[in-house]
Amino acid sequence: MIQFEHRPGILDLSWGHPRPGLLPVEEWAAATATAAREFGWRQLTYGYPTGPAPLLEWLTAHLNAIEDGGAEARQLFVTAGASHGMALAASLLAGPGDVILVDSPTYHLAFRILADTGATLLRAPADADGVDPAALAGLLATLRAEGRRVPLLYLVPTFANPTGRSLPLDRRRDLVSLAQRSGLTLLEDDTYRELTYDGEAPPSLWRLSGGEGVVRLGSFAKTVAPGLRLGWINAAPALIARLATLGYVHSGGGVNHAVATTMSCFGASGAYDRHVATVRAEYRTQRDALVAALRPHLPVAAPAGGWFLWAALPPGLSATRLLPEAERRGTSFAPGPLFYADGNGGEDRIRLSFSHLTPAHLTTAANRLGAALAP
Ligand SMILES: Cc1ncc(COP(=O)(O)O)c(C=O)c1O
Repeated sequence: MIQFEHRPGILDLSWGHPRPGLLPVEEWAAATATAAREFGWRQLTYGYPTGPAPLLEWLTAHLNAIEDGGAEARQLFVTAGASHGMALAASLLAGPGDVILVDSPTYHLAFRILADTGATLLRAPADADGVDPAALAGLLATLRAEGRRVPLLYLVPTFANPTGRSLPLDRRRDLVSLAQRSGLTLLEDDTYRELTYDGEAPPSLWRLSGGEGVVRLGSFAKTVAPGLRLGWINAAPALIARLATLGYVHSGGGVNHAVATTMSCFGASGAYDRHVATVRAEYRTQRDALVAALRPHLPVAAPAGGWFLWAALPPGLSATRLLPEAERRGTSFAPGPLFYADGNGGEDRIRLSFSHLTPAHLTTAANRLGAALAP
């Protein structure tokens, strides 16, 4: 019934899912009742192509509040989550024969979505800080000199999956400037922006770009609940118009209309802000529990946001070889090579998620991993 495989005896650190106990069951039920009362039949008929106005209005105000202006309703298109937004944007911007560049490492489940366009995926040059704009300019020039069309670069610049890192501000500016000069579109996956534990998130590429050269993906999957299947695309009005006139919208109207109208009530009532404050505090505690329990075994840094630790293994140890040993000891993780589009790299790294388990279980899982690491 749900997208999760429970393996008895294993405290699994590989799943980037919310902790079930943090999902806002009661608050969502209240918003559902309010929306039914407030919208009546309008909630149960076809929806407006880019999303229902009450949600677009609340979301615009919310995005303006969290990033100090710059959001407009005409730059929004409601989707069934970030994955859906990615598939839609990529299908409009790229096609067979094109090259899509991807950060390295990056969110592994994006690879198939982007490859579904028929484009070839190539790694963008990156170092410990993320995508390197100068090296990227060189690669772009080489590919284009070979006659390749390179319409897109996919990246998660803020509290990234899998690294937890955020791209430094100077690189953000350089990337946006390169995109605007070269006609490359930056597909900014911004799903973790609001899960910040130590101060403000850096400005989005979308905000820095003024809406040119960047398409941003947002999601309610991490801040509220993945089962809602609700998110949005931020893009220039011309691209929003193309999205809104796709055949499936013409036939079926706006995506996920009943949930989208309920979200507008969840937002307008203040439940969204209260819930995000709660989960921030809980995930911060979970992060700290996992980091503290791992430190005797592995030198991990605490990420300032998101759901993941990207831990370096002791020299000579391979993530792929460690995995069965960890599972024998009752824990699991996502091995580094998963997050490289060509599978090359990351054998010295593992991704550990602190989103899904309680602090007590995270501590036990870390101790089990420590035992697997011991010679
Ligand atoms: C970076 C990133 N993008 C997108 C998704 C999927 O988002 P959604 O559930 O909104 O499709 C995830 C979920 O793990 C993610 O980590």
